[in-house]
Amino acid sequence: MADTSVMARKSVADIVASADTEGGHHLSKSLNAISITAMGIGAIIGAGIFVLTGTAAAHYAGPSIVLSFVLGGIACAFVGLCYSELAAMLPVCGSSYTYTYATLGEIFAWVIGWDLILEYAMGAATVAVGWSGYIVSLLRNVGIDIPAQLAAAPGTAVKLADGTAAMGIVNIPAIVIIAILTTMLALGTKESARLNNVMVAIKLTVVVAFIVIGAFFVHPANWHPFIPANTGSFGNFGWSGILRGSAVVFFAFIGFDAVSTAAQEARQPQRDMPIGILGSLIICTVLYIAVASVLTGLVPYTELNVPDPIAKGVDVIGVTWFSVVIKLGALTGLTTVILVLLYGQSRIFFTMSQDGLLPRVFASVHPRLQTPYLSQIMIGTIVAIVSALTPIEVLGEMVSIGTLFAFILVCGAVVYLRRSDSDAHRPFRAPGVPVIPVLGILFCLLLMVGLPLVTWLRLVVWLIIGMIIYLSYGRNHSRLRHPDRH
Ligand code: ALA
Repeated sequence: MADTSVMARKSVADIVASADTEGGHHLSKSLNAISITAMGIGAIIGAGIFVLTGTAAAHYAGPSIVLSFVLGGIACAFVGLCYSELAAMLPVCGSSYTYTYATLGEIFAWVIGWDLILEYAMGAATVAVGWSGYIVSLLRNVGIDIPAQLAAAPGTAVKLADGTAAMGIVNIPAIVIIAILTTMLALGTKESARLNNVMVAIKLTVVVAFIVIGAFFVHPANWHPFIPANTGSFGNFGWSGILRGSAVVFFAFIGFDAVSTAAQEARQPQRDMPIGILGSLIICTVLYIAVASVLTGLVPYTELNVPDPIAKGVDVIGVTWFSVVIKLGALTGLTTVILVLLYGQSRIFFTMSQDGLLPRVFASVHPRLQTPYLSQIMIGTIVAIVSALTPIEVLGEMVSIGTLFAFILVCGAVVYLRRSDSDAHRPFRAPGVPVIPVLGILFCLLLMVGLPLVTWLRLVVWLIIGMIIYLSYGRNHSRLRHPDRH
């Protein structure tokens, strides 16, 4: 039935029913808690730890970046509990977009869908810039020098091989990796669970090796002062620097929400989802704290503002082959994250297009390849252009603010649904509702406060553009409002 009310909302029962019959077949329930945890780690560890830790330590927090990770981890734990409840209750793809459709209604669902572009597409662009930093560094090890101006966004200061300063022109390696992965996704190369597990194993080994070997070469003097004095402006060191640092490295935690899309395939969602989501979060938080401690102990934090900070840490150890191994591991890790984000973006657009909020082309599937290839190519083209022209800090902050905003709505959705649909079947119930979701909202807001005003303004402009598109297109094509037209 058409729902033309301002708050047009999908019912929980309809969403659950559509999940049961999606595509006319049931997804196999083959994932256990360990595979889900591995999936989470695969999606989580990436540019956040391999790149942004260095930037955030150098600009905002110094060695106390370690505390920034603790703060980010706590915020994500609250949100993770909320995600677990919704993922087990509404096991459909579309993630927070779908949850919002069932709670706050279509207009908010659109806002979230539009906002998730920041998390997924812009997230992929951010990680591609991180990938570029590591490939340039690795190629240098084997004697191939890519001019620094061709691996940085316009306006970014870079240092050339001869030590002179220059300005970036375009980030070509970032374009290359997006083009390769987009082609793979369009052709239907799916990450099989096994390949993903192998890549996760490589990534974990490299991170653990860095921690264990690096620990022997730490100069404790580099940890002093642990919290460098504030320079006089908010966010530049001191306690406000720790806050800004955590808003920036929050990027490192993004990805655990991607796990929620696997709820339909979990053997026992009520047990496996919370273990998978919280387990991957805990493991990553512990590793991040350890990496940040070792890194700031190896290199004075003032020198960490480089495209490949972990590699810079390894250089202190002075073993060339180990440096090459770390770079290869980082590149593998960054690749899986880009793949998951580009894939996730096309699947969110797919769901939004099926709901009529985006043009049908985003739901068109290639008859033989069985992939939304046109959507994937359009997404890839835009992500490549953005990653070629935008510095990583700007991208990373946009992704963080966009994702924090989505997380707030997810926490709100848990509280709302407990009232509006109190009888719905909840295989997993977040403990302490409404306290836990409210804490989740407060922590996310706190991290958002840590981001600069310009990032807030960019978010507002982004949301206004989205609203114009919704009012001129989505509202008139929505399947919920105009079922007769579909
Ligand atoms: N958490 C992911 C990363 O750090 C997005 O790359």
